[in-house]
Amino acid sequence: MPMQPWFADAKLGIFIHYGVYAVDGWAESWSFYTGEVTHERYMDQLGRFTASRYDPAAWADLFARAGAGYAVLTTKHHDGVALWDTGTDHRNLDVVRDTPAGRDLVTGFVDALRERDLKVGLYYSHSDWNHPDYPSVRHVRPGEHPSPFSHAEPGEEDPAAWRRYLAYRDGQVGELVDRFRPDLLWFDGEWERTEEQWRMRELAELILGGAPDTVLNARMLSYGDYATPEQGVPLQAPDGPWELCLTINDSWSYRPADRDHKSVGQLVRYFTETIGMGGNLLLDVGPMEDGTIPAEQVERLEGLGAWIARHSPAVYGTVAGLPAGHHYGPSTLSADRRTLYLTCFDAPREAVSVRGLRNAVRRVSVLGTGTELGHHVTGGLDAVPGVTWIDAPAPADLDEYATVLAVELDGELDLYRGTGRD
Ligand code: GLC
Repeated sequence: MPMQPWFADAKLGIFIHYGVYAVDGWAESWSFYTGEVTHERYMDQLGRFTASRYDPAAWADLFARAGAGYAVLTTKHHDGVALWDTGTDHRNLDVVRDTPAGRDLVTGFVDALRERDLKVGLYYSHSDWNHPDYPSVRHVRPGEHPSPFSHAEPGEEDPAAWRRYLAYRDGQVGELVDRFRPDLLWFDGEWERTEEQWRMRELAELILGGAPDTVLNARMLSYGDYATPEQGVPLQAPDGPWELCLTINDSWSYRPADRDHKSVGQLVRYFTETIGMGGNLLLDVGPMEDGTIPAEQVERLEGLGAWIARHSPAVYGTVAGLPAGHHYGPSTLSADRRTLYLTCFDAPREAVSVRGLRNAVRRVSVLGTGTELGHHVTGGLDAVPGVTWIDAPAPADLDEYATVLAVELDGELDLYRGTGRD
């Protein structure tokens, strides 16, 4: 199945880690797994999760202002608490039955995104550290410590319980597909079992049988459509479509103690570097338990969105730009491959250079202000092109975070990649 074109065109997605873990602001699911808090204290949050100011329309408006093409909501994290009224198994947890919120939170999210033409992504964890049938088999990776929340003791494996667990998981995923018709299913928690144990093939068939256009991330293992690097930036583009998921501070979920927010300027760098290598950025927010997105995160989404709005031709409808070595910064290329967009983070001195460009340049302008810049070529011999020099923009033409130069070429981009000439 070829990748859905909307995915590569979207460039920015918003990831939302929203769940009962926002009540006391401990790490999502992991806090009881690792013992940061007791299981009992973690579960006590269920009784205080209200979603009292949950306004998915306001979320969707914010995401649209940020310039995002899609958003991904944690419909069930590793703690097993579903955000919709799931009816597959009465031993599971969901916010409708088990919290004062008392209602399904997924439908409103899906509808609000669709009203604004944003694609719908639903996150779902294969693992469920609260389901009684989950810790019934083992697959412990080297260096990992087996946990009673996720692994049976040697000799105590229970294949029948595991089959029940898979039926429960398939039932929930089936509900998500049938009810919400997501454009993207964003899986997680796959590392605790093998592909065979997860019965990934059957799960992929179950999803794609009825909804063949659903995009799947790499945590469907060999059935994933795209690579899913997390937090660490790739230095070379992964093969095929990909998406970097990234937190705004250091946490996925709402953690008021974590003040380590990335600045708008840093987010512009992450974003331009990611799309310059052909990827999408999936930027995460962690709403408070009432459903409000913290002001520090709103500010950053709006700041990034304002930069994108000023530079949208360099973002939407583009593909990966120059490989490293041609320009000191990221770049993108128009879909017809005739306009290069060079990103400059710093104020250029004298000139911006492009090396190895075989094309003649027709025109260079500053994206946003439209100011035209002079350019000329020095050197080069035979098949080895010289250096293209673009006059440095005047201070008034520099963007606060990153200036983009639109370089119109005399044809499709043609690069020299050789070792020079003797
Ligand atoms: C990790 C974590 C999880 C988080 C996810 C986002 O897999 O387990 O808490 O939701 O990354 O990519």
